[in-house]
Amino acid sequence: MTALNMTPAQHLAEVQASLAGGQDARLVEVLGAAVRHLHAFVEEVGLTREEWLAGVQFLTAVGQRCDDLRQEFILLSDTLGVSMLVEMVAQAQLDGATEPTVLGPFHVPGAPRRANGSSIVDSELGGEPLLVHGAVRTLRGEPIGGATLDVWQTAPNGLYDVQDEANQAPMNLRGVFSTTDDGRYDFRTVRPVDYQVPKDGPVGRLLAAAGREAWRPAHVHFVVAAPGYKTLTTHAFDAGSAHLDSDAVFGVRSSLVVDMGGGEATFDVVLEPGP
Ligand code: BEZ
Ligand code: FE
Repeated sequence: MTALNMTPAQHLAEVQASLAGGQDARLVEVLGAAVRHLHAFVEEVGLTREEWLAGVQFLTAVGQRCDDLRQEFILLSDTLGVSMLVEMVAQAQLDGATEPTVLGPFHVPGAPRRANGSSIVDSELGGEPLLVHGAVRTLRGEPIGGATLDVWQTAPNGLYDVQDEANQAPMNLRGVFSTTDDGRYDFRTVRPVDYQVPKDGPVGRLLAAAGREAWRPAHVHFVVAAPGYKTLTTHAFDAGSAHLDSDAVFGVRSSLVVDMGGGEATFDVVLEPGP
């Protein structure tokens, strides 16, 4: 086909046709849809050459800000609401199952296994002592023994261990717990605080340019897994937080907000059956 006098629609069709021979049908579907939406976006806003180049430079800067401890692309996806949408699509929510929320860029695989009742505080930085406890159950209310809960949170200074090597030991405020036969778990920690997502990179500049807040409401992260059940990525949010209505990553769900005052918080989890 000649490129003379081609309309945007014909141009899109030509690009789509070039993808059709791929071996992986799902790749062809996903890439085809991505190209279709990207072309529509360029047309809709009448993207200029300068704007296109600025976008390329921005994504280059996002990539250059990534390393083993910092994932600026996940932060970009989170702050644009894409990560939360992926969670919503992945977890076709059955009535009664605990709602998912974002993983975020600060999960570290290989956190230490800790015994129920023990503390995840390895580096003492003050804060309000907090006992977190609850049960993991099926949709029918039966306890799930042997479920694992991978938990992590910031220190009272609002930083994760990986952001704060000067004050925190690696794996501070992280741990993996297993439920007892009656589905219960409990651990000691400090009350989480509101904190801001990293603002010292390209995503921070984007937030500032858009007039956006960078706050996340105080929370403890959970990844809960058990054989025969869908792995759940979620948070327990502190009902006392001032930022429940202005989460920079759109992750708050009212069902996940719990009382963390008085030194104790109960966070029960219901898992959906699945692979
Ligand atoms: C977090 O909760 O750790 C987080 C989530 C999204 C972006 C930044 C941090
Ligand atoms: Fe967090």
